[in-house]
Amino acid sequence: MLEIKPLAGALGAEIHGIDLSRDLSGSDVDTLRQLLNEHEVIFFRDQDISPARQHALASAFGPLQTHPAYATVAGFPEITILESTAEKPTKIEAWHTDMTFRAHPPMATFLKSVIVPARGGDTLWSSMTAAYEGLSTPMKAFLDGLTAEHDFSYGFKESLAEPGGRERLAGAVAANPPVVHPVIRTHPETGRKVLFVNSLFTTRILELPVAESRAVLDFLFRHARTDEYTCRFQWRPHSIAIWDNRSTQHKPVNDYFPQHRRMERIVVDGDRPY
Ligand code: SIN
Repeated sequence: MLEIKPLAGALGAEIHGIDLSRDLSGSDVDTLRQLLNEHEVIFFRDQDISPARQHALASAFGPLQTHPAYATVAGFPEITILESTAEKPTKIEAWHTDMTFRAHPPMATFLKSVIVPARGGDTLWSSMTAAYEGLSTPMKAFLDGLTAEHDFSYGFKESLAEPGGRERLAGAVAANPPVVHPVIRTHPETGRKVLFVNSLFTTRILELPVAESRAVLDFLFRHARTDEYTCRFQWRPHSIAIWDNRSTQHKPVNDYFPQHRRMERIVVDGDRPY
């Protein structure tokens, strides 16, 4: 029997009563998909699973993608390592949806905590379904039909500016030219409309002059992180979050330096947004 504990008003639920270390049946996977569609991000505690199990779990949802810039777990090119140490602090500062620089951004992300700081290092999520619903009717009508550019180089501009960064990431930049997505997308499984621009990768709205595009995007980025659309998860060792990457944004809370934090992430291929 699954126990489902919603965490906040807009999105997020902790799921108890499932063991992710075993092979899941088709009906288990269907249940998780339904929970993901309903809660947009779902959390699991005490799931000490190996990279092979994490790989198998994510693969049950569809083909996997690789990331062009991050280090990966040995033997698992699809599992990226997100790690920050006192010697090499790395921070993701901007609210974002994963890898929208791809023509087919991931449909879901599976994030597993491996090393958790004694305090701090939570992650925030925001529902882009709630963000869309929170817009006024005239603003929804204005945004519907607009398109925006999403750019890997823009999202990784700080890494590119590091010494040797341009050379290290040259292949990734060449393989990931800017792509265009609708500003408002339709969720392919629920049919709900979703706000689909994010401050890490979205550079401009193509149909607007530069100044108008900047003003509208700045408004939407602020709107997207409205407290009422968010939830917060406190990691413990062996926690797992699975989020619907089509309908959410997220951001780690960077309040734990110089403590060590290591997460392992895997993403499942998604549709072309429409
Ligand atoms: C991510 O941005 O995909 C990872 C979030 C986190 O490390 O909490």
